[in-house]
Amino acid sequence: MATIARPAALRPPVVWRPLEATDLAYVAALEHQIHAAPWSLGNFRDALAAGYCATVGEREGRIVAFGVLMLAPGEAQILNLSVVPDARRTGLGRTLLHRLIDVAARAGAEQCFLEVRVSNAPALALYAAEGFEPVARREDYYPATATTPREDALVLRRDLAARPQDRS
Ligand SMILES: CC(C)(COP(=O)(O)OP(=O)(O)OC[C@H]1O[C@@H](n2cnc3c(N)ncnc32)[C@H](O)[C@@H]1OP(=O)(O)O)[C@@H](O)C(=O)NCCC(=O)NCCS
Repeated sequence: MATIARPAALRPPVVWRPLEATDLAYVAALEHQIHAAPWSLGNFRDALAAGYCATVGEREGRIVAFGVLMLAPGEAQILNLSVVPDARRTGLGRTLLHRLIDVAARAGAEQCFLEVRVSNAPALALYAAEGFEPVARREDYYPATATTPREDALVLRRDLAARPQDRS
């Protein structure tokens, strides 16, 4: 059954904070509900250990969104951007994306990359609206699952020197 989001004025605020070690089991469980080829708990632990920027959004003490950003000299890569199903279409994905891009830009990244399934219409719409453009296609990048075949990834890129909110 479709979930109807509460009107914005009735929704408690989301508090953004860094992912912590004590969140790992919960976030990994969410990840398994959200993604066909999910990161494991170990993947999230490795991301923390590597110093990646990992953020969660909490509403009334419950994690409703999370994302991971990897920084490299001059560029950044968004490795994960997830919103729990019953909190979608309320702006959290866009807010989290903006937060990760801000971190990347402040760290000096001039461009930001990410990979997305070719069939992932909601994510593709979000990224296109936020100025990401396809630069490559990786054939059969995502592994098959019990219910889905292998799938191509699109590599998207955004120039951080030309941010949409700065365009006239
Ligand atoms: C992709 C995802 C992060 C979007 O999060 P969200 O909080 O629902 O997105 P928002 O409410 O911020 O929407 C922002 C924009 O994304 C697009 N969008 C989001 N969901 C959409 C949908 N179901 N259909 C079409 N466009 C959609 C729209 O352009 C929307 O802008 P609008 O509301 O002004 O029309 C979320 O659907 C998700 O977690 N999906 C599963 C995990 C995933 O695929 N992550 C991306 C991997 S690369």
